[in-house]
Amino acid sequence: MRDSREGLAQAAADVLIANDTGVFVKPGPGQYPGQWNWDSALITIGLSHIDANRARAEVRSLLTGQWEDGMIPHIVFHSRDVEYFPGPETWGRAKGAPRVATSGITQPPLLASAVRRLHERHPSKGFLREVVPALERWHVWFQSRRSDEESLVAILHPWESGMDNSPRFDRALARVGGSGTEFTRRDLVHVAAEQRPTDPDYAVYVTILETLREGDYRPSIEDAPFSVGDVFLTAVLARAEADLAWLWHEMGESGAEAEARSESLRAAIESTWHQAKSLYTDAGGDDEPATIAAVLPMIAGVGGDRSERLVAALIDPSRFGPTSSAPWYPTSVAKDDPRFDARRYWRGPVWVNINWLLITGLEDAGYEKEAIGLETRTLDLVSENGFWEYYDPHTGQGLGCGRFSWTAAVVLDLCRR
Ligand code: DGY
Repeated sequence: MRDSREGLAQAAADVLIANDTGVFVKPGPGQYPGQWNWDSALITIGLSHIDANRARAEVRSLLTGQWEDGMIPHIVFHSRDVEYFPGPETWGRAKGAPRVATSGITQPPLLASAVRRLHERHPSKGFLREVVPALERWHVWFQSRRSDEESLVAILHPWESGMDNSPRFDRALARVGGSGTEFTRRDLVHVAAEQRPTDPDYAVYVTILETLREGDYRPSIEDAPFSVGDVFLTAVLARAEADLAWLWHEMGESGAEAEARSESLRAAIESTWHQAKSLYTDAGGDDEPATIAAVLPMIAGVGGDRSERLVAALIDPSRFGPTSSAPWYPTSVAKDDPRFDARRYWRGPVWVNINWLLITGLEDAGYEKEAIGLETRTLDLVSENGFWEYYDPHTGQGLGCGRFSWTAAVVLDLCRR
């Protein structure tokens, strides 16, 4: 067991090293040529098992993209010459943007949690003094620009959720529609169309981008063409705020403000609990699709007996859990939801970054047996099929981009922690 885990860990390290540009680690070859925000946080955790200085450099590189108002964008391109759509030309250069080319929207804020893990493994107060104020500015930006008192954090583009084409966003996207702008998708050069968001999805993604660009990416939540309170991003931030408070403590400061923000985010999440479904929701509605986002508040710690009900949903074969014909889990959409699609991006496949988050949440809530079960299944999935972006829950076949960095990073962490 130990030897096979060490072999898998070495293969994972090789993927990260191969995708390293020297400035940042690409999420994957071909498909993703820039530095993506939440990918980079997970990659930092992976790199912390290889080389602490390289892991610190990864964080510094992402922070070069921070905007004047504190936002850390979802992509830092580092070069204007990238084969990606939408690239730097499409995003443009807005007021308050940094010198380096970036997108104009953000992504799930995992970075403070990654910096905490890096610091736990390789303490450096000097590094914390360098990066913690930047993390604080980003988190305050979420509070001031994207949330009202005790409400979920709003996303203004599905790409901000990290779960682009999740059925959670179908209704809000239908209200926007496509503008008819002509563009050429580059993602289909690398990945089969049946595994990616559809053309109509992309038409709306581009329409939202164009509208946001006209307002320098800073509309109010009310004026944005697309605005959804995101229970998953809110849970990531609630956890990251608690980790940020911990980092401030390490620096001899109180961290009280981050702790208070974490508390109010947790209260916002609790208010979305749907009693009959035993799941969290984005808007508390009866007809919301059942997606893995509904279980993920576990990473922020949830109240009362709710964690027990989330764990039940996670392993329930008719929902997110394994069956004899679909042994790989959890699915990103519940199998009993009519929108479940086993091979299409965030509409059904298994994503191991999500598994890693859930393993952490299960451990923290004391579900040791379930955590070990999910960890074993996750490592088997990757060792049998390779380091893919996502996986078919029926066959385990790798989908999307191959030699994918965050898959390697979380596998490395699970093997070596
Ligand atoms: C993509 O290119 O598919 C990304 O998810 C958008 O950030």
